Amino acid sequence: MKTLILYGSPKADGHTKHLLDAMLSKLHGEVKIVDCYHADIAPCIDCGYCHKRRGCSIKDDMIPLYDYIDVCDAVIIATPMHFGTVSAPMYTMFTRLQSYWSNSFIRKNKAEKPKRKYGALLVTSGNRWMNMELLIEGVTRFAFEHMETECIGTVYAKKTDTLPAAENKPALMRARQLSLLLNEFCEKI
Ligand SMILES: Cc1cc2nc3c(=O)[nH]c(=O)nc-3n(C[C@H](O)[C@H](O)[C@H](O)COP(=O)(O)O)c2cc1C
Repeated sequence: MKTLILYGSPKADGHTKHLLDAMLSKLHGEVKIVDCYHADIAPCIDCGYCHKRRGCSIKDDMIPLYDYIDVCDAVIIATPMHFGTVSAPMYTMFTRLQSYWSNSFIRKNKAEKPKRKYGALLVTSGNRWMNMELLIEGVTRFAFEHMETECIGTVYAKKTDTLPAAENKPALMRARQLSLLLNEFCEKI
């Protein structure tokens, strides 16, 4: 089982990493972590390259990432909530998934679609308020769909300003349980 982890925190050892570690403690197989803050991934420039062919005109870290998205069995998006949604470098990375949209709706090339897979969403947020999930769940669902990924569960560690994710026992437990579920789903593919 191959899992791609899109990691959106600017911190190597912050709340999001602690929540992700709980998930990783039970996850089977190989993992590839893409640290969006440190990866060399530029935003889409709408050049039209992907209207005609696979991939992207911008030759940065996204190129090998397309290859991994095409073959992996699972995708985990792990991010702090920034301004109601994913962090900015993660959003930048998402814009490059437009290449898959062009493949499906402009080039209509079924052979170049990524493998169907399962996914999970992990989010930490400093606070908690009504409907705070709307933006982040909308934008991540869009990203998952571009990667042909069905998200099977979401774990929030909210109110990290007062309750560090590492001490949020229910959230850590849910992250471990979601990992077991992801193993089960992916190993059945
Ligand atoms: C630029 C920025 C924007 C943020 N926006 C929100 C927000 O919209 N809602 C919220 O509850 N917390 C917000 N926070 C707080 C973070 O989501 C929270 O501290 C998170 O747990 C940090 O995770 P990390 O330690 O992995 O980076 C924001 C923090 C930053 C730095």
